Amino acid sequence: MTNPLPVLLDVDTGGDDALALLLALASPALDVRGITCVAGNCALKQVVANTLTLLDAINAPPVPVAAGMDRPILEPGLSAPALHGSDGMGDLGLPAPQRTEVDLHAVEFLRRALADAAEPVTLICLAPLTNIAMLLRLYPRIGDRIERLYVMGGTFAAPGNTTPAAEFNVRYDPEAAAIVLHSGLPVTLYPLDPFMQVRLTKEEAEKLTQAKGAGARIAGGIALHYCRFFGMDFSLIGDAGTVATVIDPAGAASERRPLHVELSSGAARGATVFDRRIITDGFAREGEWTDVDVVTRVDAARYRKLMATALGAAEALDDKRK
Ligand code: RIB
Ligand code: CA
Repeated sequence: MTNPLPVLLDVDTGGDDALALLLALASPALDVRGITCVAGNCALKQVVANTLTLLDAINAPPVPVAAGMDRPILEPGLSAPALHGSDGMGDLGLPAPQRTEVDLHAVEFLRRALADAAEPVTLICLAPLTNIAMLLRLYPRIGDRIERLYVMGGTFAAPGNTTPAAEFNVRYDPEAAAIVLHSGLPVTLYPLDPFMQVRLTKEEAEKLTQAKGAGARIAGGIALHYCRFFGMDFSLIGDAGTVATVIDPAGAASERRPLHVELSSGAARGATVFDRRIITDGFAREGEWTDVDVVTRVDAARYRKLMATALGAAEALDDKRK
């Protein structure tokens, strides 16, 4: 058996960040060295509270949690999307957390965790990229300690979810996204295209709420919350798909493409523009472009199974569904 991959997660918990944390913490393939929080789906204080609440609820080992940036680099934060519930994590009524965050800013926590690690560490970024951008600007040489960044953000061919052109994590802090995605560090982008692919049905979510493990029951509760909010008979695993890509890269198809993060004001702000032309060499491109690996689609059945199995609730899935 290979050693678990050392990872740090940057989150804005957030219901689907909670699903991602549940998967990461349950997977023997990952060694979660810490969780950093940033404003996004909810205000920073709520993100930290939700993350600690979740860790308590599953009786997780004492993984350090650090609070980071409470707003984007330039703009005031967007108002929190209502879809995550009034507490930002599906209003499950979980008890208030007993554990507390570490007494260190997330950016400083990340620097120390990366510098102290015996080997380069993988960053899984599921939120606006403010913490990571600040890390790279304050400590430009820290990139040597980063194995790869897996970033949930942007769109490839899909429409945006926050504006017609832009996905939430990138639109919330476009300058931070530009700093990180144009850094030249190895990046795998998990955009809305695969994000929209991996689903749980309402029946499956209901079965998960009856499972033995606390993680599965919470995942079911969150999925049911989204089904109810959208009035749909399915819910997405969302950010958890990014974690699945780290655990099981063979389940994802990706392309290496030049990417541009649009920073102008107006309709295209926060859009991720890919050069998808068949022949790109020698043809004009304006602005800053950086090659990244972008996940274009995933094996949804495989990732659904990965998620349910990690949570000890494979029996909750309808096997015939893709
Ligand atoms: O746009 C998708 C992103 O926004 C995810 O990171 C998710 O948490 C959502 O709120
Ligand atoms: Ca998120």
